[in-house]
Amino acid sequence: MQQRPPVILERLRRRVLSPLFDRLGYDLVPAASDWSHRPTSEREVATLLGSAAAILERDLSAAGLTPDGDVLEQVRTFWSLIPTAPVRQRRGGSGFNGALQLYVAMRALRPDFVIESGVFRGLTTWVIRQACPGAAIFCHDPDLSGLQYRDARARYSSADWSSADWSAVDPSRTVAFFDDHVAQGRRVVEAHARGLTRLLFDDDAAAHRIHAHGGPAHPTIAMITGPAGSPEPIRWTRNGRAFEQPADDALLRRAGGLIARSHAFDDLHRATGYSPARLTSVTLRTGTPEVRS
Ligand SMILES: C[S@@+](CC[C@H](N)C(=O)[O-])C[C@H]1O[C@@H](n2cnc3c(N)ncnc32)[C@H](O)[C@@H]1O
Repeated sequence: MQQRPPVILERLRRRVLSPLFDRLGYDLVPAASDWSHRPTSEREVATLLGSAAAILERDLSAAGLTPDGDVLEQVRTFWSLIPTAPVRQRRGGSGFNGALQLYVAMRALRPDFVIESGVFRGLTTWVIRQACPGAAIFCHDPDLSGLQYRDARARYSSADWSSADWSAVDPSRTVAFFDDHVAQGRRVVEAHARGLTRLLFDDDAAAHRIHAHGGPAHPTIAMITGPAGSPEPIRWTRNGRAFEQPADDALLRRAGGLIARSHAFDDLHRATGYSPARLTSVTLRTGTPEVRS
């Protein structure tokens, strides 16, 4: 279980630093992970775990994934593992729900090789290791300076995953997990070119929800697979910066022709009370792509 912040530091934050940061327009809050808050009464724990397991079972089935045994049992295992996570983060990386989805999905996929693009502090590497103890994990992130968990058996690189040599890796036994804020359409095209078919994406967002995402990875899977609508571009602003995604372009069409199946998991917020998660499973076609017209 996570430690409480030291009392002196917490007093300093509340009485001196927070008011100062407030005046500058910032929130200064302890980097406590959301899972450090949890129900402790048996009935509430059972309701939380049972609700999450029921949703995850439906999501796995909709994604075409066969669970690795009893999903409720896996959720229980995760519940006891997560307090031991060696990463503390409140923002910028996965919380309880995202970590749970990744754990259950990775167990269902049972890869021998995992490519992780977007590592940050290393929480998701740790989750992947818990789910796939025997897998070879390849971690890519241009900035590895903030790692709080470094997997002893993973290979780390600050180069983009698309520039690495994957000839020694069997694509049919590999899963790629993208949480790197790079255009999801681009990642689909790159993965297909390397023969990969099993992909997981964090931060997939529909056009009307993307304004809420930092470093939005557009076109997202939802934009690529959604029905073709009006030709008007998707526009939004975030932190004063304007963004625009064409409603249709060559990348969108190309990536759309490569996706055989995709499923956005439920955000799990209603089941667990933790911050909404955004995992999407994508299965790519094998062979020559179709181009969506
Ligand atoms: C949201 S964080 C990853 C969080 C992590 N997966 C977790 O849930 O704990 C996004 C990360 O993507 C990294 N990133 C940015 N561009 C990238 C690229 N081209 N390839 C891989 N990672 C990239 C950033 O440095 C950042 O660490």
